[in-house]
Amino acid sequence: MSQRYFEDPEHARLYAKYRTVPPPNLIKRVIGYLEEKVDAKGRQLALDFGCGSGQNTNTIAPYFFRVVGLDISEAQILEARKKSPRENAEFMVSPAEAAPFSSSSAQLVTSCVACHWFNLPNFYKEVERLLVKNGVAAFYAYTLPSIVDHEKAEELNEALCDVIHGSLGRYWGDGIRHLENHYKEIDVPFSKEVVRESFISKSDKSLSDVVAMVTTFSAYQTMKRIEGNEAVEAMTEKFQKRIRESIGTAENMPSEKVTLTVKEDWSLVMGRKG
Ligand SMILES: C[S@@+](CC[C@H](N)C(=O)[O-])C[C@H]1O[C@@H](n2cnc3c(N)ncnc32)[C@H](O)[C@@H]1O
Repeated sequence: MSQRYFEDPEHARLYAKYRTVPPPNLIKRVIGYLEEKVDAKGRQLALDFGCGSGQNTNTIAPYFFRVVGLDISEAQILEARKKSPRENAEFMVSPAEAAPFSSSSAQLVTSCVACHWFNLPNFYKEVERLLVKNGVAAFYAYTLPSIVDHEKAEELNEALCDVIHGSLGRYWGDGIRHLENHYKEIDVPFSKEVVRESFISKSDKSLSDVVAMVTTFSAYQTMKRIEGNEAVEAMTEKFQKRIRESIGTAENMPSEKVTLTVKEDWSLVMGRKG
């Protein structure tokens, strides 16, 4: 069954602001793999399922004549349209398991941090239907983030883990296990060869952006709905306090000025329609 945790407009706004894009070398690898059998002129249509506010859709847009981001959440699609997308990018509300496109119409189908929420057997069948011969399916995601390159990294990650696995632990849906096991169970069942590769991305974020990133997690939004604003705010307050104490941040230093390096481990699973 597909799992719907991204319907709230406020959640969609947070997504548009704080979610990261896939690392450039991952995108290059996907396009390079496609190019082995499909030249630039043949790259007419790419479909990006579970596009959210469109970060990945806009990233692949320069390589295609037309790119369409699809998402089951109307709130996410409204945000994607607001974010001045690339000229050749469009967005539409649609379930990933039944897209309004003809068979054999797309050279590339992607899903970025999304397909683990879909009904996978139905999604795989739909991707096979949509792809042209030699078209590529590429599904990628990052595991839950960690804080690195800091002498107190261990302590800082304990604080982050307590939020992700402790307070939020019971609010994650089933799909999250695919992130925890690095997409090992995600497949491209119709492809003779399935490529599995890993990529790392690191970025400097302020402490307030790390907190904002936590608020984009589906589990945070579920906890907020069930336990209320005060509970989630108390959790992020406690988290910030722990981080600030570990680093020894001066009291008058705003969290916007406290910099942390955040690492994301990306897993790519891709294959080709024969
Ligand atoms: C974790 S977000 C990822 C968004 C975006 N691709 C990104 O990289 O940030 C997952 C998205 O998948 C969408 N989604 C979940 N189930 C879906 C389904 N069955 N069909 C289409 N979209 C779905 C959600 O609405 C949400 O926007």
